[in-house]
Amino acid sequence: MDKLLIRGGRNLHGEVLISGAKNAALPEMCAALLTRDPVHLVNVPRLHDVATMRRLLDNMGVKTETHGERGGISFTAPDDLNPEAPYELVKTMRASVLALGPLLARFGRAKVSLPGGCAIGSRPVDQHIKGLQAMGAEITVEHGYMHASLPLGASRLKGARITTDMVTVTGTENFLMAAALAEGETVLENAAMEPEISDLAEMLIKMGAKIEGHGTSRIVIQGVERLHGCTHQVVADRIEAGTFLCAVAVAGGEAFLRHGRVDHLGAVIDKLKDAGVQVQAEGEGEGAGIRVRSTGQLKAQSFRTTEYPGFPTDMQAQFMALNLVAEGTSMVTETIFENRFMHVNEMLRLGAQITTDGRVATVVGGKPLSGAMVMATDLRASASLVIAGLVAKGETLVDRIYHLDRGYDRMEEKLRGLGADIERVSQ
Ligand code: EPZ
Repeated sequence: MDKLLIRGGRNLHGEVLISGAKNAALPEMCAALLTRDPVHLVNVPRLHDVATMRRLLDNMGVKTETHGERGGISFTAPDDLNPEAPYELVKTMRASVLALGPLLARFGRAKVSLPGGCAIGSRPVDQHIKGLQAMGAEITVEHGYMHASLPLGASRLKGARITTDMVTVTGTENFLMAAALAEGETVLENAAMEPEISDLAEMLIKMGAKIEGHGTSRIVIQGVERLHGCTHQVVADRIEAGTFLCAVAVAGGEAFLRHGRVDHLGAVIDKLKDAGVQVQAEGEGEGAGIRVRSTGQLKAQSFRTTEYPGFPTDMQAQFMALNLVAEGTSMVTETIFENRFMHVNEMLRLGAQITTDGRVATVVGGKPLSGAMVMATDLRASASLVIAGLVAKGETLVDRIYHLDRGYDRMEEKLRGLGADIERVSQ
């Protein structure tokens, strides 16, 4: 099993290329199910989750082809496709639920395994089911699968007004894709506003969908009969960019994150500036990105995760790693998931001083960290342990980094390119 070996104490300097966003690429790969025409995605990140989604689509009968060096993948979903997502694949990646909406919208039926829980929480999909039922779908859950179909005699989903019990990112994405081909108007009243939602909507509009309001909490979709193919560039990954911002902040130094977008990281950048890190937009067009400078002397910052545009839950563990080495005590409140402090116990092994009480973690900063063997438990927890290892004294060995590979495109290569002493070892 691969591990990452990090020797702490190096500053970081140089330039790193931010890859396409995992959480945009996954729904956008599913959007290809909505048309029989070829769909071309570029800037698709090289991630395990992308490979898993590709296997899922291949398994249904979608023809996929890699092309060019810019992370290009083409998808062609034929009319005789098998609209099923089996447990063996879905259990490893919750985002497989994103096939449900497009399969129902285009083929009128779908059999998708329930995702099951994961390290950070139970991760139910009841809201996805509720919204699609509002659009006329008949969905039963049997033997661990969602069996979805249209009512007898119906040839399409019907537009509906959907208000979910809580804001759901993939729920919003499922509804967007289903509503694009539904009959009539769909209104999403408390839609998620993440940049990945807007990127998916822009792609659907290129395919002929009629969508307004994406990026706000109220999205209106006028269904159309058919969608056509398109070419779409996956938006840059704001969480990867945020992760590298925290890495440079903690290790000290200066870096340019090419393709990073300050307008997608407002809440995180505000906290970094309050902590004493210099962050600014730089460059134009393809050369645009984020410049970050840090002395390594930081002031701890309390924060609470909320839906976009608030502080993202996917950056909680990485910023906690910053608070470990910053001066002062901070309170970290996780409001989105019920169990997203799995990194805390591993951080304690590095010498951190953290106590948790339900959804609140209290971090006493400024404690010297010493390298140790630690274990990754989920995607972003892995990243936080790597960040802590960059500054811990001695060697840190991060185990189970298949979690990291799910959502980061060659992280150790990119960090090594900035001067970090980090290597992948197989033991
Ligand atoms: C997306 O997950 C992201 N994944 C997650 O990123 C991210 O942490 C999360 O949004 C929150 O921003 C992808 O986009 C592939 P939710 P998602 O539905 O859509 C509850 C990462 O690290 N809920 O917005 O699954 C749910 O349990 C991953 O890249 C229900 O109860 O999250 C959670 O408490 C981790 N029922 C809250 O809502 C439902 O039907 C928000 O979940 C749906 C959600």
